[in-house]
Amino acid sequence: MVEVLVTGGAGFIGSNFVRYALQTHPDWHLTTLDKLTYAGRRENLHDVMDDPRHTFVLGDICNADIAGPLVERANIVVHFAAETHVDRAIMAAGDFIRTDVEGTFVLLEAARRAPGLRRFVQISTDEVYGSVPEGASTEHDELKPRNPYSASKAGADRLAYSYFATYDVPVIVTRASNNYGPYQFPEKVLPLFVTNLVDNIPVPLYGDGGNVRDWLHVLDHCRAVDRLIDDARNGEVYNIGGGNEVRNLDLTHRVLDLMEKPASLIKPVPDRPGHDRRYALDTTKLRALGWAPQVPFLQGLAETVAWYQANEWWWRPIKERDPAFKAYYEAQYDRRP
Ligand code: NAD
Ligand code: TYD
Repeated sequence: MVEVLVTGGAGFIGSNFVRYALQTHPDWHLTTLDKLTYAGRRENLHDVMDDPRHTFVLGDICNADIAGPLVERANIVVHFAAETHVDRAIMAAGDFIRTDVEGTFVLLEAARRAPGLRRFVQISTDEVYGSVPEGASTEHDELKPRNPYSASKAGADRLAYSYFATYDVPVIVTRASNNYGPYQFPEKVLPLFVTNLVDNIPVPLYGDGGNVRDWLHVLDHCRAVDRLIDDARNGEVYNIGGGNEVRNLDLTHRVLDLMEKPASLIKPVPDRPGHDRRYALDTTKLRALGWAPQVPFLQGLAETVAWYQANEWWWRPIKERDPAFKAYYEAQYDRRP
């Protein structure tokens, strides 16, 4: 069996990747290492927790005693674990530095000692390029992160590369655009807006709603990572973008239309500080390896909205019974000027 360590496998993208990999690779044994922060949930892995080819380990990537031995026996590491929400990074950045930078350092140190390791996939983000007023970022563009989340991710991105350049660790770096799909924590714009609208709660749209994100279906992301595990060149960076550039206001209207809700439920709120206006990726390098996104955006969006509508069991406990989520929501939305 191929031993695959997935850090952050109980989060949004990680859990989709674990499920996808179990279906796609009968010769893989996957180990999820996850601290189960507010964003990591056993519920995300509910249907694969008992799979004999999947082992769940509760632990912090910053803890070398736990993470080290798991990395040392892996053939492939896919490193998703991170603090991920920009608005939380703006409130308090400490956990982002600890997990995204120091945690990555702990994993990379162990990777130096891993005899059978053939890939270390550093999951980075398009946000490391900073705001892109026009055109599309290529992998050679300068990194200009503008908030503590993207700056932490940029640090980890380059730290991972340095372990390839210095110690020959088989690192590749992926920079994906905004993912959407099932099991995304309802602080991110799409699940937040859909779940609010189910209850006719207004959706807080930042600024003028003109910020642009490039949307990538989470399964297209999983397929890209899978392709790169096989075909990438060590030490290289690969952009992963869906090619679906949408303004937040247009995204909101599409969701309202799909849910048959009135535009009066849009609540303009003050902008996010340092809000990146636009991200856009040039994906020529990845497409040359034969990957292309398969999920048409409008179809993927409709399926995603329907998933949250059909799976209240998954999100209602977070939004209604988790005091930490309520405190976050109040601090982020109700107490803002
Ligand atoms: P998420 O917040 O849903 O999940 C993060 C997971 O990491 C959670 O399960 C959490 O418990 C775990 N985790 C956090 N700190 C940990 C620690 N110290 N030790 C062990 N586990 C820990 O995030 P996501 O949206 O699934 O993102 C996954 C990765 O993809 C991140 O590295 C993120 O930067 C990157 N990324 C995300 C997007 C996106 O649109 N969501 C786009 C590009 C890149
Ligand atoms: P988000 O899902 O937080 O992802 P990211 O900031 O990593 O791109 O936000 C996506 C876009 O939606 C971003 O431009 C900010 C905007 N947004 C809102 O307008 N209102 C909200 O309540 C949230 C969470 C985001």
